Amino acid sequence: MKNTKIFLIAISITAIFAVSAHAGPRDDIIAGFMAQGAVAGDPAKGEAMYNANYGTGKVETPKCTSCHGTTPQQSGETRTAKPIDPMAVSKASDRFTDKRKVDKWFLRNCKGVIGRECTAQEKVDFIAFLATQ
Ligand code: HEC
Repeated sequence: MKNTKIFLIAISITAIFAVSAHAGPRDDIIAGFMAQGAVAGDPAKGEAMYNANYGTGKVETPKCTSCHGTTPQQSGETRTAKPIDPMAVSKASDRFTDKRKVDKWFLRNCKGVIGRECTAQEKVDFIAFLATQ
């Protein structure tokens, strides 16, 4: 009985450390998409998405790089010439850390570029690529 108690306390302490060691909001956002059925992100697929010429959404924005930097390390520009910070996490550490912002822009930009919403898997792949950049 006593051993069981000690065991349970040890498990709880391990759990608390596991939760605090597990890093911040970007991981939570990824976990949210994985809860919708996505598997771990594939950076190569995210890179292909970043560079793809979809041409299935709005005519004036066939690609993500119609607004975002030609490389993720470069700044981009909106259609009205307002600067957009680089998408590479190494250049803008707050990228993909605000769930509302992530949801808002995936929705708007996937519709604008691809002509449909992105899947949870595409979102995880896209973030996985940019987190390595
Ligand atoms: C019409 C211009 C435009 C196009 C095309 C575009 N984006 Fe964006 N995107 C923006 C703007 C503006 C922001 C918000 C400003 C910022 O984050 O610096 C943004 C932000 C984002 C964010 C939020 C990033 C964060 O830090 O949370 C995601 C995700 C995103 N875009 C994904 C995409 C994807 C995927 C594509 C291609 C399928 C794409 N965007 C194409 C203009 C665009």
